[in-house]
Amino acid sequence: MSQTFLAPEFEIEEREKPVNVSSVPQRSPFRYPGGKTWLVPLFRRWMMSLSSQPATFVEPFAGGGIISLTAAFEQLADLVVMVELDDQIAAVWQTILAGEAQWLVKRILNFDLSPESAKAEFAKSPKSQCERAFQTILKNRTAHGGILAEGAGVLKNGENGKGILSRWYPQTIGRRITNIELVAKRIEFIHGDGFEILTKFRRDASAVFFIDPPYTAGGKSAGSRLYTHSVIDHEKLFSICKNLKGDFLMSYDNAEEVRVLAERYGFETKAVSMKNTHHAEMDELLIGRNLSWVEDGGIFREDAASTSKSVPKSKLVRYSIPKRKKPK
Ligand SMILES: C[S@@+](CC[C@H](N)C(=O)[O-])C[C@H]1O[C@@H](n2cnc3c(N)ncnc32)[C@H](O)[C@@H]1O
Repeated sequence: MSQTFLAPEFEIEEREKPVNVSSVPQRSPFRYPGGKTWLVPLFRRWMMSLSSQPATFVEPFAGGGIISLTAAFEQLADLVVMVELDDQIAAVWQTILAGEAQWLVKRILNFDLSPESAKAEFAKSPKSQCERAFQTILKNRTAHGGILAEGAGVLKNGENGKGILSRWYPQTIGRRITNIELVAKRIEFIHGDGFEILTKFRRDASAVFFIDPPYTAGGKSAGSRLYTHSVIDHEKLFSICKNLKGDFLMSYDNAEEVRVLAERYGFETKAVSMKNTHHAEMDELLIGRNLSWVEDGGIFREDAASTSKSVPKSKLVRYSIPKRKKPK
């Protein structure tokens, strides 16, 4: 049974067939380290498990923003609030959402990428927010692993030996930006601290929160190589979540100290398996007040969303989406 996400007046239908995760649309202009495209099927399921559609969806650590974009495109909430502290990432969201999307699209389409032109571009100090946005997209698409934090090298061999060009798809990136512009009125972007926004919305029972923080607890340092802002107070985050009126879903590395923290705050945890783009299988940990809607089984594939090749049946993730009528 198929499902229409873009037409909110349609009822979401029950679906029990295995779902090919390659049908998850890639909507972000970023290729983001720690990006959650693979989580989209479960995210939809969580949103549909809520008794009514939330007025506000808040993502306090938005990064590449795929979850917020999914909420906005599929009208899973009336308003989507994205928060990000990083200046470079913020410049992209602000440019797209504040009426300059087409400037950015043209700049991307007209840029003739080579190792020399990229180097010349990175040597410039951006004179406007729009220029900073362009530099960020260029950096994100030409750096190893899409890493924007200081110290990431530029792709030399890249995919199929295409070097710096291997992740530069101007038409595709441009199309994604144009599509986001179409739903811009449903998105509010805040360049700021996710903790402040969580606190601001804590008494709002009609708000729900997807929380995907940089993870550096327990001496793990992966997050510090990936993000400019990688250190947060995890204990404080859990304590804010405890007091949120609305429902929340957190995503973390499946580490012992995180499970201990979650238990201490009385939250449920559930490990979900995913295969990253390097085909390494790992467990991610979902944390919430009630995770009964998470179905067991299946491996979510990070790369499945970006390939047009069909995914073998054995790799399909089985999930169903419960019915919920949009409130009048
Ligand atoms: C794990 S990533 C989020 C990835 C995102 N879910 C995605 O799919 O692309 C965490 C993000 O939190 C941002 N960040 C770190 N500290 C922050 C803070 N105090 N407030 C807002 N954002 C912050 C980082 O810059 C990074 O982009």
